[in-house]
Amino acid sequence: MGRFEGKVVLVTGGNRNTGLDLVEKFMREGATVYMCGSSEESTARGIAALKSRGLDGFFAQACDISDRSQVDALFDTVERRSGRLDILVNNAANQGIGHGGPLEMDPAKFDEVFGVNVRGGFQVTQAACNRFFMKQESRGVVVFLSSNTAMRAIRGRTAYCASKGAINSMVRALALDLAPLGIRVNCCAPGYINTERWDTLDPAKAARRRLNCPLRHEAMGSDIANVVAFLASGDSANMTGEIVTCDAGCSCQHMPEDVDV
Ligand SMILES: NC(=O)c1ccc[n+]([C@@H]2O[C@H](COP(=O)([O-])OP(=O)(O)OC[C@H]3O[C@@H](n4cnc5c(N)ncnc54)[C@H](OP(=O)(O)O)[C@@H]3O)[C@@H](O)[C@H]2O)c1
Repeated sequence: MGRFEGKVVLVTGGNRNTGLDLVEKFMREGATVYMCGSSEESTARGIAALKSRGLDGFFAQACDISDRSQVDALFDTVERRSGRLDILVNNAANQGIGHGGPLEMDPAKFDEVFGVNVRGGFQVTQAACNRFFMKQESRGVVVFLSSNTAMRAIRGRTAYCASKGAINSMVRALALDLAPLGIRVNCCAPGYINTERWDTLDPAKAARRRLNCPLRHEAMGSDIANVVAFLASGDSANMTGEIVTCDAGCSCQHMPEDVDV
């Protein structure tokens, strides 16, 4: 019997890249899974991608998580079809790529990134707690995806780095307030993940990135899904408010090997 047999899971941004691996992990371990992309088109592409992995029986509905009414509509569907929710994975993210440096960036772009990554994650969590977890005897578990860039910044991504730092702080604050109610909130902070963006990298750049990794390889989506599944399962029953880094050892090094001369 799978670890998540009988459990109902929602993965935001489950329609591409790491999100697909998250949906697959929970499904292969027995869960009923709901996923969303931000639009009808991207969600439909996600459905096709999951089907091409041999997965069926999941539920998908487009939902822009920065829009409260769309979040409510998604939870209406979960309520109507399953009547419960056990695990929320806040994976959806606005990467804030191409917004320019801090001197020229339009502050409205900052709001967009925070609207998805911070406010979006918050309002999905609030809805999960109020509509399901607080009404169920076996409460619920929340897992956020932040980033190792919450601790060590990358260039040209001010809003993204700040939003991931905010997620780490929000995870601790939520964990503290929700622990007495029996709800756990934890976070996985990935480093490099091999996504479709990785495929567009110049091979020399990809090799250099791997040299940046003490373990010599970026995470695959399945590596991240394994950590998230641990945090969502009873195996982590005594953990809440934790940020678990999964970044091939990048955070523990002062300088990459080729610079450390
Ligand atoms: N990739 C990395 O190297 C890396 C490193 C550290 C941390 N992370 C974190 O790990 C998680 C997964 O990363 P990833 O690279 O697989 O993500 P990704 O490829 O950027 O995909 C982001 C997902 O979020 C969804 N999304 C964006 N805006 C949304 C909105 N307003 N409402 C609902 N969904 C929305 C996207 O849906 P659409 O398809 O509709 O846009 C997509 O499914 C993210 O939280 C990311 O920040 C990634």
